[in-house]
Amino acid sequence: MIKLVGVEKTLGGQPVLQGIDLSIPVGKLTTIIGRSGEGKSVLLKHMIGLMQPDRGEVWVGDVEISRLSGTPLNDVRKQFAMLFQGAALFDSLSVFENVAFPLREKLRMKGPEVGRRVEEKLEEVGLAGMGHKFPAELSGGMRKRAGLARALVMEPEIILFDEPTTGLDPLMAKSIHDLIVTMHRRFGFTAVMVSHEIPEIFAISDWVAMLRKGKIALMATAAEFQRTTDPEIHEFISVGGTVALPGSLVGVRRSTKDGKSQVGDGGRRVRVRRHVVPRVSVDQARETRVDRRRASTKSRRSSTAPRGSNRVRRSKSPASKSAGSEGLRSLRIVRR
Ligand SMILES: Nc1ncnc2c1ncn2[C@@H]1O[C@H](COP(=O)(O)OP(=O)(O)OP(=O)(O)O)[C@@H](O)[C@H]1O
Ligand SMILES: [Mg+2]
Repeated sequence: MIKLVGVEKTLGGQPVLQGIDLSIPVGKLTTIIGRSGEGKSVLLKHMIGLMQPDRGEVWVGDVEISRLSGTPLNDVRKQFAMLFQGAALFDSLSVFENVAFPLREKLRMKGPEVGRRVEEKLEEVGLAGMGHKFPAELSGGMRKRAGLARALVMEPEIILFDEPTTGLDPLMAKSIHDLIVTMHRRFGFTAVMVSHEIPEIFAISDWVAMLRKGKIALMATAAEFQRTTDPEIHEFISVGGTVALPGSLVGVRRSTKDGKSQVGDGGRRVRVRRHVVPRVSVDQARETRVDRRRASTKSRRSSTAPRGSNRVRRSKSPASKSAGSEGLRSLRIVRR
């Protein structure tokens, strides 16, 4: 449905996209990964016609959109919704009005039908009864949910998600992923997601594509992608582990010669999560985030580990304690 052929784009004198060939499978969830600043957001903007390539073609269905503008482009865009990096809600509008906005502006919808559709979507994303709140009164996760409701309300054929979980704690990130997967299964739209959540994305995506040096270095099914033999790609996806199956440990764990358990490698900060995460409410998750922030500030202050040593932190979140014995444990190793 979406197809990019030889797309090139230079921004601020810097070549960003340098010959992108990419076909997004219809009705599937495709995730685009790559280092920060590689051009993932720029790539999404080309798909929806917010940016035009210097060279190459962008096809949406049987329409080549790269030189379109005005009404013809808007007609194509009606098939799309986009959840921008940071949710991009209108601060001066309530959550209800934010979600109602595309219905009123794009579909010229009026009357009780607007209220019905907005309330329905708010309920689906877990924000029932929150319509009167303003974005400033919401947690990061709630803002993402509101953005998701606004994307879904138009019942689009294609939804582009730019880092829908960035800035959220692991529980909230998981609940947003779950929501995207549930909505994707229920409504069958074509989903393109940019994400840094490795390895979690392998458990939820149908296809994974990696952007590297302005080109698509690899596109494969989630399972095939993890078996790559390309050393650079392998290193990139190994940072957080290679599998994310429920109940499994995420990360590279091995025993050292002296019998101690070691996590991660390469001097990087690696987070290992046990994927037996209980379902928690939005409020519980928010409490968890606040508690984790406090805990991490405290542990930074109290750290006395000498430079060059590995320091392992263990924590058990209060929300997970209250939610059952199989709580979320995190184990971190920081090489200094
Ligand atoms: N409107 C713009 N004008 C000039 N340069 C831009 C513009 N938009 C993006 N760039 C540049 O293009 C490059 C790619 O940016 P982009 O935002 O797509 O990266 P990204 O892969 O999404 O990174 P991140 O993972 O941090 O979000 C960056 O060097 C950025 O500075
Ligand atoms: Mg980006």
